[in-house]
Amino acid sequence: MKKVYLETYGCQMNEYDSELIKAILEKNNYTMVGGQDDADVVLLNTCAIRENAHQKIFHRLDQLKARKKRGQIKVVGILGCMAQNLRQELAERSPIVDIVAGPDSYKRLPYLIRSVMEKGEKGFDFSLSEYETYSDIAPRRLPGVNAWIAIMRGCDNFCTFCVVPYTRGRERSRPVDSIIAEAHQIVAEGFKQITLLGQNVNSYRYEGQDFADLMEKMAKIPGLRRVRFTSPHPKDFPVRLLHLIAEHDNLCNHIHLPLQAGSDRVLERMNRTYTQKEFLDLVETIRTIIPDVSITTDIIAGFCGETEADFQETMAVMREVEFDSAFIFKYSERKNTIAWRKFEDDVPDEVKTERVMRLNELQREISKKRNRAEIGRIREVLIEAPSKKNPQEWLARTDQNKGVVFSAPQHRPGDFVKVKIVDAGTHTLFGELIEEPRRLPIVTEVNV
Ligand code: 5AD
Ligand code: SF4
Repeated sequence: MKKVYLETYGCQMNEYDSELIKAILEKNNYTMVGGQDDADVVLLNTCAIRENAHQKIFHRLDQLKARKKRGQIKVVGILGCMAQNLRQELAERSPIVDIVAGPDSYKRLPYLIRSVMEKGEKGFDFSLSEYETYSDIAPRRLPGVNAWIAIMRGCDNFCTFCVVPYTRGRERSRPVDSIIAEAHQIVAEGFKQITLLGQNVNSYRYEGQDFADLMEKMAKIPGLRRVRFTSPHPKDFPVRLLHLIAEHDNLCNHIHLPLQAGSDRVLERMNRTYTQKEFLDLVETIRTIIPDVSITTDIIAGFCGETEADFQETMAVMREVEFDSAFIFKYSERKNTIAWRKFEDDVPDEVKTERVMRLNELQREISKKRNRAEIGRIREVLIEAPSKKNPQEWLARTDQNKGVVFSAPQHRPGDFVKVKIVDAGTHTLFGELIEEPRRLPIVTEVNV
């Protein structure tokens, strides 16, 4: 039996894809191992979103070179978005690479590995499909608290900065029934929380059912305590979904809403198809319908043509909205994207770096302020894992997706407990366990 070691980079969608890849390989008699030392085959499931994602993989390939040359590793494969993005160029730049396979080619992996091992032939597969959703594959999940389900694949939005439509192809949705069946299975396996994944979940559509219909079905699954999703697009945001979140306790009060930029001029160049005002109105609608909601975002600094005045508008939107947290990125030009074809990457690197720093500084203040507003509140949290800083304590999450650290030796990951928030920093809340009064069985006297 050949042993395979798989490493995953990038987003949650890639984590999910790695679970599919493991299932496909195990069905074909490969054994998955936990480290490169025991492996005949090393696979890297890669990301392409920014240039540093590529750099990380080239660096990793340099590290693997010696083991491959000594014959300790027989096959090296690059999978995922970077594979799809660079294709043959990858194998040319790094001769130790034997397999390059994109996100729609995973069912061919057993064949590709066999070709290398038996015939010494390198294997490439970059065919993108309009239909592949892998809904016939049951992902190989490690037992835990959180599980992910990809409800759709690909993206048709064509934001001008983004490589994903090229690496993951056309948008397609998985059948509702297969998603719901998978969710039931996940609950039966003991998971407590499911996150639905898609590049733009608002455009989920299957045989007349939309994303809100799907979420309503998820909310009704017995024993499923928490449902999250990522990411929606601010255009066409389904307002019915907000009402469903407000009505159902198990649909979490957290919305990740990527802003990307604050100025209308930049938003238009990015092809985001909403204006600053529309974004702000949506935030207001969200907060009116779900008052106890947390909103997080993604922002890109230094997109083509972004002036200081444009940048100030991003800062102003951040001040006005007060996101609970934000991922802030330096614009990284991606080959073949619309921005690469149409615009000049003209903001100097130092300016991009400095803008990222200013955004981070502002967001740190805001996050801290919003987290400190939690002090004194009592929150129900789901324990996920030991805290990294102090393994004697737990890291748990509120419904709003804020991390809370507290001590409760009598509890375990997967438990829901109530904590009082007693302190808060920029990234973490600190809590104290509130002991639930023990429920004694009610004994009724029966006259015989
Ligand atoms: N450069 C920088 N950040 C990017 N993102 C997507 N493409 C790029 C790029 N070319 C960011 C967006 C997106 C997040 C997942 O990554 O903010 O929401
Ligand atoms: Fe995920 Fe996008 Fe990176 Fe692909 S390019 S792994 S979809 S973040």
